[in-house]
Amino acid sequence: VFLTQDMLKRIAAYKAVEFVQSGMVLGLGTGSTAKYAVQRIGELLQQGKLKDIIGIPTSKKTQEQALSLGIPLSDIDEHPVVDLAIDGADEVDPYLNLVKGRGGSLLREKMIEGACKKFVVIVDESKLVPYLGGSRLAMPVEIVPFCWKFTAQRLQRLFEDSGCVAKLRTCDDNGEPFVTDNANYIVELYFKKDIGDLNSASDSILRLAGVVEHGMFLNMATTVIVAGELGITVKNK
Ligand code: A5P
Repeated sequence: VFLTQDMLKRIAAYKAVEFVQSGMVLGLGTGSTAKYAVQRIGELLQQGKLKDIIGIPTSKKTQEQALSLGIPLSDIDEHPVVDLAIDGADEVDPYLNLVKGRGGSLLREKMIEGACKKFVVIVDESKLVPYLGGSRLAMPVEIVPFCWKFTAQRLQRLFEDSGCVAKLRTCDDNGEPFVTDNANYIVELYFKKDIGDLNSASDSILRLAGVVEHGMFLNMATTVIVAGELGITVKNK
């Protein structure tokens, strides 16, 4: 049978929800894969198969979805210890490092997923890459709107040796700058070559004034569930 990418996303999401137990504080991810996990958690709550869940949404969009499903919600001010978070990713490398944030919610995702005991990532097999940046898609960086061109240029210069091109993310419909849930902008970095050591890349991005956060999630995932044509693979850290 031929499985569409959407079916694979749903399969990975349902598998991850098997880790959810009653009484948990749960980080709820954002994106087209995570939405299936949130939907499933809502269903299990409605059926009474799960009880006393507190959801911590990683974006306004997920907050709306969870509210519509009747999932009780809170935040990491009230619940600083999160038992489990389930979220998608744009890229997963062999060491389970991730690129996230093509959906634009990287800052809240990183805050919440950095606070959880277990972080289960759900992807279809198209997200697996040999190294981060390896899909030739953009790596997002959230920056403050003030003089964004200046910050974008500094980011581009930082990775000159990797052939970096920095572009402001815009909205598809009107070409206006895309604005995050935190009222910031997103710069997308495109690389022609491997950026080398990820920890030092991360440090140098975060050292730039004007940068809020970047989409590399290093050493954060505890489990990655990959759904492919040939079945499900569960990779543990
Ligand atoms: C949201 O900001 C992102 O981090 C998403 O979680 C990630 O982009 C994966 O999204 P999809 O499941 O839609 O590919």
